[in-house]
Amino acid sequence: MREYAIAAIPADGIGPEVISAGLQVLEALERRCGDFRLKVEEFPWGSAHYRKTGVMMPADGLERLKPFDAIYFGAVGAPDVPDHVTLWGLRLPICQGFDQYANVRPTKILPGITPPLRDCGPGDLDWVIVRENSEGEYAGHGGRAHRGLPEEVATETAIFTRVGVTRIMRYAFRLAQARPRKLLTVVTKSNAQRHGMVMWDEIAEQVSQEFPDVTWDKMLVDAMTMRMVLKPGSLDTIVATNLHADILSDLAAALAGSLGVAPTGNIDPERRFPSMFEPIHGSAFDITGKGIANPVATFWTGAQMLEHLGEPAAAARLMHAVAQVTGAGILTPDLGGRATTREVTEAVCEAIRAGNA
Ligand code: IPM
Ligand code: MG
Repeated sequence: MREYAIAAIPADGIGPEVISAGLQVLEALERRCGDFRLKVEEFPWGSAHYRKTGVMMPADGLERLKPFDAIYFGAVGAPDVPDHVTLWGLRLPICQGFDQYANVRPTKILPGITPPLRDCGPGDLDWVIVRENSEGEYAGHGGRAHRGLPEEVATETAIFTRVGVTRIMRYAFRLAQARPRKLLTVVTKSNAQRHGMVMWDEIAEQVSQEFPDVTWDKMLVDAMTMRMVLKPGSLDTIVATNLHADILSDLAAALAGSLGVAPTGNIDPERRFPSMFEPIHGSAFDITGKGIANPVATFWTGAQMLEHLGEPAAAARLMHAVAQVTGAGILTPDLGGRATTREVTEAVCEAIRAGNA
């Protein structure tokens, strides 16, 4: 029996609701497959922990997570704690401390979901956005001087390193190569940003030489938003900086029907550290506790986690079950349905148990 140690960090808002749903589905899957086991340990970190202790996670948090094979993460963010505290106190230290430099965001239109674009159904939109996840605009460099005075100055410096850009380009080219269309779009803004983005373009050109079978092109990020809306079928794998991909992935999620289905993997491709899997949607405190959070993003990221662990058959089974349930119209309100988190979860467990998934 193959066994994997999973650290679950439900954290804030709807995080605990969707992670509990995800663990239920993973358990059904374990039972159905019978050849692997997930040993899950939960960590009660997040904003409630911050209110009690003044920190989002203990000082030795990373040390405690290190022995795990993967991290299953809910969401951070609370109405009464500043966003930069919750983010820089838990999620970013894990991403950066474990050098999870590849943030992988698959998007496609699941059966049963009506996307906002006319003439764009399942099959017309099947993308993976690769987001640089260790530097760029999220490097945290900068500062403020003369606080509160009229002459106050704030700087926010984006950092691009040759090592950082080369490794994410290589990851994106490799991923594009492994997908049927072998098609990569490199997003840039090298007309306006003439240092980091110009180096980004040069490195894309250099890395492309290692992948002669991958067709690739370059898009300025502003024009890219139009192409995503007007010609979604012309895109497949997409690589962009930390901030550009952050923005484009919300657009991608909306075009696929809802942020409620969008998953993400924060991956250390070298496997020195555990990778972390989470829904993109965040804590959503407007619907926290109402039982209507969409668990599909958490199921999908669970499938990403299984793939990363080397269980592709289980991952495929899980996605098949999810597609059956969305296809049957069992949808939460964000997708125009009336099902609760629990109803969607039970339906997915049932589809897994029924074995036709
Ligand atoms: C995402 C989110 C985060 C980000 C927020 C919560 C800081 O929007 O994962 O896309 O910008 O990285
Ligand atoms: Mg985002």
